[in-house]
Amino acid sequence: MNKKFYITTPIYYPSANFHIGHCYTTIIADALSRYKRLNGYDVFFQTGTDEHGAKIAQKAEENGVTPKEYVDEIIENAKDLWEKLEISYDYFIRTTDESHVKAVQAMFQKLYDKGEIYKGSYKGLYCVPCESFWTQTQLVDGKCPDCGREVKEVTEDAYFFKLSKYQDKLLEYYEANPDFILPLSRKNELINNFLKPGLEDLCVSRTSVKWGIPVPFDPDHVIYVWLDALSNYITSLGYPDENAELYKKYWPADLHLVGKEITRFHAIIWPAMLMALDVPLPKQVFGHGWLIIDGGKISKSLGNYKDPREYIDSYGVDAVRYFVLREVPFGADGSFSEEALITRTNADLVNNLGNLVNRTISMAHKYFEGQITNPRVSASVDTDLIQSVEALKAKVDAKMDELKVNEALEEIFDVLRKCNKYIDDTTPWTLAKDENELPRLKTVIYNILETIRICAILLEAFMPTTSEKILNQLNTQARTFATIEKFGNLEEVTLNKPEILFQRIEVSE
Ligand code: MSP
Repeated sequence: MNKKFYITTPIYYPSANFHIGHCYTTIIADALSRYKRLNGYDVFFQTGTDEHGAKIAQKAEENGVTPKEYVDEIIENAKDLWEKLEISYDYFIRTTDESHVKAVQAMFQKLYDKGEIYKGSYKGLYCVPCESFWTQTQLVDGKCPDCGREVKEVTEDAYFFKLSKYQDKLLEYYEANPDFILPLSRKNELINNFLKPGLEDLCVSRTSVKWGIPVPFDPDHVIYVWLDALSNYITSLGYPDENAELYKKYWPADLHLVGKEITRFHAIIWPAMLMALDVPLPKQVFGHGWLIIDGGKISKSLGNYKDPREYIDSYGVDAVRYFVLREVPFGADGSFSEEALITRTNADLVNNLGNLVNRTISMAHKYFEGQITNPRVSASVDTDLIQSVEALKAKVDAKMDELKVNEALEEIFDVLRKCNKYIDDTTPWTLAKDENELPRLKTVIYNILETIRICAILLEAFMPTTSEKILNQLNTQARTFATIEKFGNLEEVTLNKPEILFQRIEVSE
């Protein structure tokens, strides 16, 4: 049986249409999913939307529609965006799905019956836009540490989850599973800022909010948003039915990809909830950095961004995918700007990749009418290229396993660069002038095309459209990972006509 890989993105708030920051996590999750599938894994890739809470209700009211009507439209828009970005998710969960609502209520009941949830009264500092409660010590200059806005004091009857009792258990779990939270800097931050100072019990219901899942035995309360939201990762699989097929097959999750500001919910509250339910914990939570525009976070409330479809329309889907996957060292923050996207596209996709494919296929047509064979007239200059190509798959595998997606791409583009240099070193145009050199010329062209084939197959997870275009131009059937373990599986093919992969983007002054 194939090994399984269950990967999730956060479920996004549909309070406004999605921006390039949401695309960032989702594109990375997509590349990781596709890569695992190519490596033979049975992948379950889940994304979705987190639809309850005060903020959404407020937005709906401002727009004169019901919360459900409000989110329905945004979700339609989000699904269209994911389609345009070629996101290959297997399941899209909405927290308004009836199955999710029922499952969350059953979980709440179970936790209450086990004494893990109790009724009390809540007095706390609440940031409305972030829907987060903070303790006095967590505030920065008296304001919300995430968004810098005012917090307000709130008192109301509420149910609490006994989070405080899991402090030591969580620390033990981190110790026993050193890769549970990555990157390590994020883990240390959580331990020092949240676990060591002591965990407080967590408020898990509200009476002031109406748009949410009612507490099954006390319907004046709605279930407070994080318990509702985090549960999505198992309700989609059929939990609380522990015999549900998907649940048995895919849980525990292999990777929860989340932004840095919500790592603490996933690495503290979520595992504690699962411990309380006697459910196995996910294997890894990775907290990535943010895409920054003009030095600040891209923000729906600041409105400092374009609809991502505008970038796709201007530069093509693969330029957008490539940029976000390549530009930012995973884990760190990185800048997003159209200027940087254009520079990357021209340097890597137009010059390095596009020109290589185009000029090689053109040469093959010019010299051999597109008929490819390999007479194996080798020279020492071939060895270095062939060795690099043969070592590439293992290198990319290793980088992807470490979630260093940008470095995985770097490895592939290094080989492409090497291949361009190989053309300069072998000068096919000179060989073409001498009849006796034709067998050598054929070998040189073959080596370049075989390098291109292998790189194109490795690029599929990152840029599926471009990969397919290249393989179609090569007219090859050899397209699987099994065909790239060694150099030389490109068949005797007749190439299709060359087509430009990426147009140079001219920048008007
Ligand atoms: N609904 C919660 C998540 C619940 S998961 C059980 C939420 N939603 S969100 O829409 O505000 O953010 C979702 C994700 O998008 C977060 O991981 C966040 O870090 C990410 N991003 C939002 N803006 C971003 C950037 N500018 N750059 C990168 N990621 C960003 O939090």
